[in-house]
Amino acid sequence: MRKIPGNIGWPLVGETLSFISEFSSPFGILSFMHKRQQRYGKVFKTYVLGRFTVFMTGREASRVLLSGKDGMVSLNLFYTGKQVLGPTSLLTTNGEEHKRLRRLIGDPLSIDALKKYFAFINDLAIETLSTWLGRKVLVLEEASTFTLKVIGNMIMSLEPAGEEQEKFRANFKIISSSFASLPLKIPGTAFYRGLKARNRMYAMLDSIILKRRDGEVVCGDFLQTLLRKHAKGSTDEEEEKYNSNKLTDSQLKDNILTLLVAGHDTTTAALTWLLKFLGENPEVLQKLREEHIEIQGKRSGSRHLTWSEVNSMPYTNKVISETLRKATILPWFSRKAAEDFVIDGYIIKKGWSVNLDVVSIHHDPSIFTNPEKFDPSRFNNPLKPFSFLGFGNGPRMCPGINLAKLEICVFIHHLVCTYKWKPMDKDDSVRAMLVRMPKNNYPIIVEKL
Ligand code: HEM
Repeated sequence: MRKIPGNIGWPLVGETLSFISEFSSPFGILSFMHKRQQRYGKVFKTYVLGRFTVFMTGREASRVLLSGKDGMVSLNLFYTGKQVLGPTSLLTTNGEEHKRLRRLIGDPLSIDALKKYFAFINDLAIETLSTWLGRKVLVLEEASTFTLKVIGNMIMSLEPAGEEQEKFRANFKIISSSFASLPLKIPGTAFYRGLKARNRMYAMLDSIILKRRDGEVVCGDFLQTLLRKHAKGSTDEEEEKYNSNKLTDSQLKDNILTLLVAGHDTTTAALTWLLKFLGENPEVLQKLREEHIEIQGKRSGSRHLTWSEVNSMPYTNKVISETLRKATILPWFSRKAAEDFVIDGYIIKKGWSVNLDVVSIHHDPSIFTNPEKFDPSRFNNPLKPFSFLGFGNGPRMCPGINLAKLEICVFIHHLVCTYKWKPMDKDDSVRAMLVRMPKNNYPIIVEKL
């Protein structure tokens, strides 16, 4: 076995400072990775963000780590993330329990199940865009409000405005910023505030669940679907088998929070990058607009977009994939070795943190010619397996893919059919957060087409 090359940098901080500074640059961690890959090859060790870690890249590493055969790896969340999401979250469970939770949670996120939320998403997109006219719009902030209203309504039929929405939003923001904070559980710290906000969010869910159980309120939302799969956590053996198709209160709440945390920043960032890339690539915008104007033109009578139209937008889907490739919103996927294993001739020891460098895969010129170009046509033909990881791959592939695409397709339809926009700032730097987002929130000015 070869010894893993690399440099673990300074005591305590390792190479964290250069990692963070590269992360915030327009190219993200790509140059951090390239410098080390040139020096050491596709596998190297480093010490970043408080962890000794091995970075690896390439389709083979991607296949081995993401298919995670025989429980070889588990997800590697930060301590604070684990505490905030709870012990029964999809993100903190592994193996058979993870499979079971995914099956139960995945059902209401299937394309068929999403149909009932379409009208809400459509109306909200039209309404949101109508407020953009003639003013400076910070796209990231607007996208964040839009996606949070969608998920709040989907999960628990929350009205898009009003006191409950405000409470939900305020608590969620605090939880979200505590997710990767320092593990200091003392008053005043982000972690402490995050746990308090989590308690308030769970109290809100408890009161909704109670009303639903009493039959006081009946809705057709995600929570209602999950409540049908709900168990009170009996220890009775007879019931145990029956309960394998059920969720306990904690599982229900931990996983609702998980969907919020995993689905909100990612969809917000995707929508914002998509507008930014369209603004920088007028020929792509033109082609995209043609697809949508054609859809609109074929429509007789009814003013609104329909469910079948939204499921038939081939060019828009390529634009979404190209956005996720070029922006690589989650630049690395983190895993923990659950046992010793060998990869590319190197031995990885049980317990090590192993990160898949996705940004280098998405910018590999042997897979994506001229990788810096924003070119949706590269998705005209099927790609080699494990080369495009916008929504991941394998047993942990994103279960929210259909919802994310639905929100983006609906929003983009109304945007490009009715409006045009100009960027107001050229700063390309990126926020130093786990999910890559433009630092300036992408300010634009909007006019009617
Ligand atoms: C454009 C938007 C989105 C992007 C780019 C995205 C991307 C991803 C990626 C790359 C992964 C795999 C990470 C890994 O393997 O380590 C993932 C997992 C996940 N995503 Fe998404 N996601 C998006 C939207 C959503 C939405 C809307 C939801 C929920 C409503 C969601 C829920 C989840 C969950 C729960 C996981 C973890 C799955 C598991 O561990 O089994 N995502 N996402």
